[in-house]
This record gives sequence, structure tokens and C-alpha cells, in this order.
Amino acid sequence: MEETNKSLLDDSFTSAMTLTDSGVPQVPDRYVLPPSQRPALGSSTSTRETTLPVIDLSLLHQPLLRSRAIHEINMACKEFGFFQVTNHGIPSSVVKDALDAATQFFDLPVDEKMLLVSANVHKPVRYGTSMNHSTDRVHYWRDFIKHYSHPLPKWINMWPSNPPCYKDKVGKYAVATHVLHKQLIEAISESLGLEKNYLQEETEEGSQVMAVNCYPACPEPELALGMPPHSDFGSLTILLQSSQGLQIMDRSKNWVCVPYIEGALIVQLGDQVEVMSNGIYKSVIHRVTVNKDVKRLSFASLHSLPLHKKVSPAPELLGGNNAPAYGEFSFNDFLDYISSNDFLQQRFIDTLKKTRS
Ligand code: OGA
Ligand code: NI
Repeated sequence: MEETNKSLLDDSFTSAMTLTDSGVPQVPDRYVLPPSQRPALGSSTSTRETTLPVIDLSLLHQPLLRSRAIHEINMACKEFGFFQVTNHGIPSSVVKDALDAATQFFDLPVDEKMLLVSANVHKPVRYGTSMNHSTDRVHYWRDFIKHYSHPLPKWINMWPSNPPCYKDKVGKYAVATHVLHKQLIEAISESLGLEKNYLQEETEEGSQVMAVNCYPACPEPELALGMPPHSDFGSLTILLQSSQGLQIMDRSKNWVCVPYIEGALIVQLGDQVEVMSNGIYKSVIHRVTVNKDVKRLSFASLHSLPLHKKVSPAPELLGGNNAPAYGEFSFNDFLDYISSNDFLQQRFIDTLKKTRS
């Protein structure tokens, strides 16, 4: 057994699923958040009625209507860094199969899942719990399997061999989300007034990490979270959720619940788009709440520019009064940052912001 597996086991790794299945009546102390960070379920801030944008992506393929969709994307990205999409082209059977494979994976015996456990964020395939089990001060009610997914033939052999359908079903979903993400990157570039193919090469060669998350029913959802507030490091994230639980922070710093819309997918801007747009668009801060009754699954397809490619503000958006507001960074820089810093204390993107002299 390799080092990381061993030290995690010695540390008595306990998944959220194990706790739920054992019927604990309360969350263990390590999951209890300080009062100021608790989710305030049911309070006016978490349930306030803000209408979040839903965009019909079929418009992108209709020459007379494309500009309307681009305008809607521009408004959604400026206001929230977030939108949901319908008619996105991924068949519902592909989505259903992926959720089915994930359910079967998390239902496997603990020993089987532990074959893939690792606390090393540079590992291409890893199973874990919370954010980083070995370093988290407060734990989060979440288990996950994360794997590199593009180009698929390079990574798929390292994916779970159990359940036997996993590679095929999740592989089909990964390929479909990669196609969708290319269309979205084009539309987002266009919405900034850049060439549609501004990031074409980076998008072809970029990375895709699929984070498959499982949030089991939690006995005390008012004290814990499934994931802490964060923004995603990449260019954009395409998120599939099996039920409600995601919250995003709006411009007034209120938490807004993201409604579950059957068949829709969620698009979230990441830090790379914030930097590329020189702050015209902001990455969305989001968190995950848990609930007493149902297990929630999600697939976060995290798209990013190539590992070592530096992202910087688009020159076309600079000049005149617009000086670059951010330093450049690569996905690899981000991984190094989260390996050696507590990203809850300071967001990575804030370390890139230039102070005006
Ligand atoms: C993530 C994430 C949200 C969710 O994996 O980065 O924010 O609903 N997931 O699981
Ligand atoms: Ni996220």
C-alpha cells in the first residue's frame, strides 16, 4: 500500500456515507461549523426569491437568435457568474446513466472505495471525503471521487473498475460535457466581444476534472455544510445535481438557493474566466448545503486551460483606462497553492489581484 493510503487509514478515515449508514443521531464534533459559518437553513437570506437566469442553448444554433443567447449569457455572467442551461444537447439517458453509475460507486463496500483514496491533490484519480480529509480543520459532509477526464483515452483506464459500468457510463457523460463546454467557451468569449475562437487551442488541450460528489442525508444539516464557500479555479464548471442543495452568493453577498430544474445543467464561471476577462466577469462563490432526508449526488465537470498554460487578462480588453487587474496563473499554480495554503482563509484569486498604485 502506498504512503498516502496508509497514513489516511492510520488516521481512521471515515466517510460521510459510513456515518449516515451507521445511523448517527448527531454529526461528530469535527463537522460542526462555527455559528457564523452555519447555513441558516430556512432563514430569509437562504431562501430569498432571486430569479436566477435560465438560458435556452438551442438559440446558439439558430443564426437569427444566436445574438440573443449571447446577450443573455453576457447579462448572466456580469450579474452572477452563473446560469442554468436547457436544451444543452446532452441526452437525458446519458445523464441518468452517469447518476446511476455514481450511485453504484458510492454504494460499494468501504474497502473497495479505499483502494482509490488519496490526500494528494496532484493525483489523477482519487477518492476522498470532506475537502481534504488530512488537513481540514472543520470537516464537510461529502464524499467524492475525482478523476481527470480529458483526453479520455489517456485517463479512463485509471478510473474505478467497479461498478463495471462506471467507465462506460461516466465516460459518455464526460465526453458530452466536454463538447458542451467548448460551445459555452465560444459563446462566453463572444459575449465579451472577443473572437469566438479566442481560447480554441486552450480549450482543445485543456484539462477536464470530473468531481463526482455524494452528500448523504445528514442528521444535523443546520450545523454542517457539504462544501464550504469557494469559487472554482478553472475556466468554467458544468454542474449536474440530482436535487437541490447548491447555493450561490449574489452581488449583495446574500446566499441564494439554486432551484433544481429537471433536465437543466448549471454553468459556473471559474477564476480563469475572471482573470481572462480582467474582472468584467467574476467567478461565482458557491457552497453546498445538506439535508436530513435525501442523499444528493452531483457531477462537477471542472474545465480548465492546460495544466501549465498561464492565463492572463485578454489584451483586447486592456488599454485606455483598463490596466491589467490580475497577475497570470496556471492550473498547476493553483494546485501548488491549495497544497500548501488554507484556501478558506484566502481565496487563490485574491492573491493574483494587483493593487493599483
Ligand atoms: C465543486 C462544487 C457543487 C455541488 O465540486 O466544486 O462546487 O453541488 N460542487 O456539488
Ligand atoms: Ni465548486
